[in-house]
Amino acid sequence: MTGSARAFAPASVSNIACGFDILGFALQSEADDSPGGPGDVVTATQGVRDGRAGPCGPVRITAIAGDDGRLPLQTGRNTAAVAAAALLEAEAPDASVDLEIEKRMPLESGLGSSAASAVAAVVAVDALLGLDLPPATLLRHALAGEILASGGAHADNLAPALFGGLVLVRSLEPEPDVVELPVPEGLTCALARPHTHVNTRESRSTLDRDLPLERAVTQWGNAAALVASLYRNDLELLSRSLVDVVAEPVRGPNVPGFYDAKQAATEAGALGCSLSGSGPAVFALCDGRDRAREVAAAMAAALEHALGVDCDRLVSPLPAPGARVIEAGRDAGGG
Ligand code: HSE
Repeated sequence: MTGSARAFAPASVSNIACGFDILGFALQSEADDSPGGPGDVVTATQGVRDGRAGPCGPVRITAIAGDDGRLPLQTGRNTAAVAAAALLEAEAPDASVDLEIEKRMPLESGLGSSAASAVAAVVAVDALLGLDLPPATLLRHALAGEILASGGAHADNLAPALFGGLVLVRSLEPEPDVVELPVPEGLTCALARPHTHVNTRESRSTLDRDLPLERAVTQWGNAAALVASLYRNDLELLSRSLVDVVAEPVRGPNVPGFYDAKQAATEAGALGCSLSGSGPAVFALCDGRDRAREVAAAMAAALEHALGVDCDRLVSPLPAPGARVIEAGRDAGGG
């Protein structure tokens, strides 16, 4: 066991249009693949076993930075703490840990903020305790945090945040079954993130629970074709597959500026465009970085014009790396 361990987990795009709750990819900054963000850093240090009460007894949050005071320090309401507590309960019931969370990405933006926290927490605690748990086990514990945040058991942000790359979550039962998919050379994500917020839990509650069979057939046809396009390096098939008939028709009208951004992306030459997770961030897949820069600029301009708020843009080469321990030892965490 080390004195402390610090881990980074990246932001991610979930759904990828046609893969509601099952497909996602990790993001990185174009300029720098070091763990500067977007993503979260969690530092775990050994806690003192002092009979702590509360829903996550052996886990304590000692500090949160970069969240503008919006995230709860109460462990039972914090995704990182809930994920860490799930891990301790199952794997190390006698241990206790303190967590410091550093947000290097916006909250409620559709970029998997809660997943980045949960994954960074379980990776840091795993390293702190020297457990070396299999990724599927880490994912199962991180899922407890994601359920708290979104009200649903889905791992389409968690899995890319943990594994990196572009992944398919075939099932979560009886154990998470994650398939890492190939990424055609040059495939690049363009992203625009307006400074507005969408609560994922509320957004999920608006979705249809009863899906007409015809729409389900369309959706799984596109999801299967998207996977095939990745294996075949077939960007035309990929482009035809980036269609969401399940979530986007419900969410799109509630995300101001989305259709303007989508039109701008199409006109700028994107292969396809949809909401990132539940939005408000909008992503587009593009052939090459130059194209992605143009598309990101076009989407951001459209959103700024429609909303009158600032909009960040990001160009992320794919595949991006997943979570990793960035420091482990007596001094990680600085105290
Ligand atoms: N698949 C999820 C959704 C991702 O679209 O609700 C958001 O966390």
